[in-house]
Amino acid sequence: MSAVPQSRIQYQTMRETDVAAVIAIEDRIYEFPWTRGNFLDSLRAGYTCWVCHDGQTLVGYAVLMHAADEVQLLNLSVAAAQQRRRHGARMLEFLVDNARARKAVTMLLEVRPSNTAGRQLYANAGFRQLGVRRDYYPAATGREDALVLALDLWSKAGSMSRRLDL
Ligand SMILES: CC(C)(COP(=O)(O)OP(=O)(O)OC[C@H]1O[C@@H](n2cnc3c(N)ncnc32)[C@H](O)[C@@H]1OP(=O)(O)O)[C@@H](O)C(=O)NCCC(=O)NCCS
Repeated sequence: MSAVPQSRIQYQTMRETDVAAVIAIEDRIYEFPWTRGNFLDSLRAGYTCWVCHDGQTLVGYAVLMHAADEVQLLNLSVAAAQQRRRHGARMLEFLVDNARARKAVTMLLEVRPSNTAGRQLYANAGFRQLGVRRDYYPAATGREDALVLALDLWSKAGSMSRRLDL
């Protein structure tokens, strides 16, 4: 699959009118998808919700919760037909930049041990495992653990730009 030119990619704040298209993707890519209510609650709670367009279609979306200097990445998804074109990696980069701009210090997330794509994506971005939440997710047979991952947003070059901002 070839990568979509970055010039065509746009990130916009998710609106309630986007939720139907978001759900159409969500239902297709997760065995246990978020509901329409989960997305509407996130929007109404003031969580940071993004949609990513390639000029023609919705390719992905993300939901984050900022609390003090932490940001939790609650949902990062790419439409089935758009996967493996670097949208996920670029969206994550955008979210990290945005979290830094908001002066967050750490990005946290949970991922299923069975989610090879997600784990690899986060490992490539520098996330490290903090711990395990036992039986966190529903699974086809019983429950599945969650790996808790964290990214120090100010390691490497970022620490210098933050010091200069103060
Ligand atoms: C995880 C997800 C967001 C990745 O998005 P994507 O656009 O397909 O990923 P990218 O093309 O940007 O790939 C980035 C890296 O992720 C890893 N990756 C992506 N898909 C993968 C797959 N199917 N198997 C193994 N690794 C994969 C690779 O390391 C890849 O880098 P590489 O191509 O240089 O090897 C996407 O697969 C998705 O939406 N999955 C379902 C929802 C989900 O699991 N979200 C994360 C929940 S925590």
